[in-house]
Amino acid sequence: MRILGIETSCDETAIAVVEDGHKVLSNAIASQIDIHQKTGGVVPEVAAREHIINIIPVIEQALKEANSTWEDIDAIAAVPGPGLISALITGSLTASTIALIKQKPLIPVHHILAHIYGNWCDRKMSAAGENNGEDFNFPILILTVSGGHNDLVLMKDHGEFELIGQSRDDAAGEAFDKVAKLLGLGYPGGPAIQKAAENGDKKAFPLPKAKLDNPYDFSFSGLKTAVLYEVQSHYGKEFDPEKLSSQFVADMAATFQQTVSETLVDNIIKAYDEYRPKEIHIAGGVSANLNLRQHAEEKLKPYNVPLKYPKKIAYCTDNAAMVASCGYFMYKKNQAKYSKWSNLIPSADFTF
Ligand code: KG4
Ligand code: ZN
Repeated sequence: MRILGIETSCDETAIAVVEDGHKVLSNAIASQIDIHQKTGGVVPEVAAREHIINIIPVIEQALKEANSTWEDIDAIAAVPGPGLISALITGSLTASTIALIKQKPLIPVHHILAHIYGNWCDRKMSAAGENNGEDFNFPILILTVSGGHNDLVLMKDHGEFELIGQSRDDAAGEAFDKVAKLLGLGYPGGPAIQKAAENGDKKAFPLPKAKLDNPYDFSFSGLKTAVLYEVQSHYGKEFDPEKLSSQFVADMAATFQQTVSETLVDNIIKAYDEYRPKEIHIAGGVSANLNLRQHAEEKLKPYNVPLKYPKKIAYCTDNAAMVASCGYFMYKKNQAKYSKWSNLIPSADFTF
């Protein structure tokens, strides 16, 4: 079964064609990074206009790369939320319109659940069960960690998700972006901090970790403020981010990155102890972070539990292959629900 996925929740116009929930035939993206670099972050109205310009050419590109025509596409999956409402509208309306004209089933996909399926992309499926892919074994404990969200999820089966922890304030990716800005590094902040941290000392500064009532929740706003105070204590209240010494920036980037990695992995281990999942997955934009991956591997080694993160960096950050994959498994689970065309109503706070 071939599904065309559409993702426009933030600053990527992404379209993909995925077969049977795992075989990625194409994964096309028109990134707006260059445009948002000028403003140091995403301006929703600007993102929305770019989606309108890009969406049809990117759909054509994805179909071409997948060697497919509309006749080969069995269903359309798109994201009505959560995300930037003005950006979501373009993808949702395009998906609804195509589904109506071409009379294809239309599958609404939650953006965070789609990130989870970044881990299914390009995995081999076992002959035994299409539903279970390669060597996936439920229950799976999943950390989804991105710019807009930061959740700990117990996945009992396809379509059965229990949210056990979430960020009380900033998501980790948001903290990466804000700290990068504060240190005079570029947008997006995650890759910039990772690069700067290569020459830094992970223990250069005493940065805090939040303690919360729910042990599986996260909070990164205090950490971000602690970084600000530390920079101010060295360079004064009105410091210029462009004038920090490169060694200071490297040390701060390394210490911040290590603190975030430890906080995320500490919660995974606490949840592992209670829920004893058969696998642990990390997904979302921050799962691209090499320090987080290395730290998770090191700390989880004694537990002897499979740890997976997406096979390609392109499946960590926003993409449409994960949307098509998620759509496939949702459709398999409940075909009747999506068997005919229906409305896809975008909503920034689409419920979990
Ligand atoms: O999943 P994503 O593309 O979009 C949202 O759904 O939010 O995640 C984007 C976030 C950004 O905050 C970006 O800085 C972060 O993922 N990110 C990284 C890395 N690559 C992207 N954070 C840390 N290290 C990276 N290598
Ligand atoms: Zn995302």
